[in-house]
Formats: sequence, structure tokens, C-alpha cells
Amino acid sequence: MNPANPLLETFRQSSYQLSNHGKRNVQVLKEAFEQIDGEVSSDMYGRGQIIEEFQEKMAAFLGKEQAVFFPSGTMAQQISMRIWCDEKNIHQVAYHPLSHLEIHEQDGLKKLHNIKTILLADKTRVIELEDIIKMKEDVACILLELPQREIGGQLPSFETLERISEYCAEQGIKLHLDGARLLEVLPYYQKTVTEVCALFDSVYMSFYKGIGGVAGAILAGEQGFIEQSKIWKTRHGGDLISLYPYIIPADYYFEKRSSKMYQYYEGAKELAALFNSCTGISTLPLVPVSNMFHVHFLQPLEQVKTILIEVQQQTGIGVSHYLKELDEESCSFEVNIGDQYENIPKELLFEAIKVLDENMNSI
Ligand SMILES: Cc1ncc(COP(=O)(O)O)c(C=O)c1O
Repeated sequence: MNPANPLLETFRQSSYQLSNHGKRNVQVLKEAFEQIDGEVSSDMYGRGQIIEEFQEKMAAFLGKEQAVFFPSGTMAQQISMRIWCDEKNIHQVAYHPLSHLEIHEQDGLKKLHNIKTILLADKTRVIELEDIIKMKEDVACILLELPQREIGGQLPSFETLERISEYCAEQGIKLHLDGARLLEVLPYYQKTVTEVCALFDSVYMSFYKGIGGVAGAILAGEQGFIEQSKIWKTRHGGDLISLYPYIIPADYYFEKRSSKMYQYYEGAKELAALFNSCTGISTLPLVPVSNMFHVHFLQPLEQVKTILIEVQQQTGIGVSHYLKELDEESCSFEVNIGDQYENIPKELLFEAIKVLDENMNSI
């Protein structure tokens, strides 16, 4: 046992884990390449059959004219914002205060592109149409993150999305979709991916979250936008001579998992209800709207840590490898349902929830 981090250690030693598809190890890459002929040629600086066919497939899937494969969503989205700002000659965009660009990208948008940001809505809720109408500043683009990860993966209603899309079109504001977890929200909306993407001028989707690939992102939109994005991709050093080590797993796991999002969503709702049945525990959102949610504890981090270690040791269920302190009296962790959830024997899962509840009760 590693005394430095017993929560992580008991999680690693557990027989089953609540979240994700499995370990992020080299086997993920090996499985994707198992059936690939060694004679297949590499892509070369964004050209070649392997990348071009995948980009065409993704453009058709998302219902957009063209698409381009990027090594990261961070790169794809900063570039999208830059293109829309240059086109409108307004170097300002708007998004949620907890958007990935605002809190996880070391201010790339501001430092690399001199783009100012307007923060819409407050940190606890998703952006509504009224937030956009009230905005006084001119912006070239609004970025919507679906689902809003840092608040447990909350979503606006589909009707709100339609109204925002209509309003932005009227106002000449470009609408960009941070769809890192785009496929994961379709079961809740009961919409096709093209119905969602049609509301946006540009769309990004990740291949290593719900899909579970190695890394990589697709950016889709009209031809002129995508052509410019390819130039910016080169400028950013994103035109790796070979991107196939990412593209082949992206395609493989897309085929393997894109049709399983409903199963993950149902699993998330089931598991959230189990957490909500425990004393001092609630999920955000209360009823998940995708495969993800946050689990909030109304107890100090150190106490909850002890409880989770006990649950993991006693039941062999890996509940979480970390806890995030919210304030002195509360903490949380994130759940992302993937392939691993269905493998957990139900009686063992119920046992883990029972032990968790008992331990929470005895504080
Ligand atoms: C909502 C969201 N947007 C963008 C990104 C960036 O993706 P990447 O890690 O491919 O740069 C992430 C990554 O976690 C994300 O969660």
C-alpha cells in the first residue's frame, strides 16, 4: 500500500471500477491496430488516404461540408475562435466561465491570439438565451460546451439551443460547439448528431472521452472555414508528419462505442440514483443528462477519503481515485460511465452503496 495516496492505491487494486472503459494503457493502442494491415501507408502532413477518408467520414457523420483531424481539441478550438474573429474583425468571443478554454488552456486564446473573452452566465448553471441577449459587447463567436463538464455535465434544453442558434444567426454571431462529449448528449436530447450540429457553424468532437481512443479531435464546418483551419493547424505545429497513431484508434473506438451512448446514459442515471439514496451525498445534476455526473459529499474531504478507502477495500469496487475539495465542509468527484460499469455484478455494486451509506451515517 502506498501510504502517500491510499485512495488511489485502493482504487487501483479494486476488481471493478465505476467509471470509464478501462485502463489507459498501451493495450488501448494495440487493440485498435490488431486488425490493421502493416502495409497501410502513413498519412503525411495532413494528406493521404488514411486521414482524408476519416475526415470525409466524420464530415458526413456530423452533417458538415468538411472536417479536419487535429491532435487536440485545445488546438482545434483556439483556431476556430481565431478564424471567426478574423472573419468578423472582432477580437472577442463569449463562453461559459468554466469552459475548457477559460480554465484549462493557460489562456492560450488570449496569449496566442489576443482574443478577449466575455463570460456568460454564472458558474453554477448553463448559458441561457437571456444571457446572450443581455450581453452588451460585440463578439465574433459564442462557444457552447455540451455538456458543461465542470458543473457535472449539465445541458440547456434543445429548445434553448434552437433559440440561441436562431438568435446568433440573426445577429451575425458565429456559434461554435465544444462537443468534446457530443455523442454522450444525444440520448438525452433524443436527436441525431446532424440535428444538433446543424445548429452550429463549427463543431469540435473528441475521440478520447466517451469514445475512448488515444487522443485527437475532429473539427467540422463549411469548406472555407476548414481550409483556413488547416493553415492554422500547420502554424500551430499540429500537422504532425503522421497522425495515424491517433486516427486509427479514433476510428476503431468510434465504431466500437458510438452506438453505446444510450447504455452509458442509462447507467449514469441508475448509478446517480444509488448515490442519491445515501446520507450526505447528492449528484450534480440530480438526474444525469449524459453519461457523466459529479458526486457531492456534505463532509470534509479527509473524512470522505477515509470512507471511500474503506468501501474500496471492503467491496473491491473502485469508486474514485481522487476527491476534489469544494470548501472545508464539502468535496466531490466525477463519474463517467463507460464499458466498465456493465461488468460490475449488481449485488456487489449494491453492497458498495450500502457500505458507503452506512459509513456516511456513522460520521
Ligand atoms: C469540454 C472540453 N473541451 C475541450 C477539451 C480539450 O481537448 P484536448 O484534451 O483534446 O485538447 C476538453 C478536454 O478535456 C474538454 O473536456
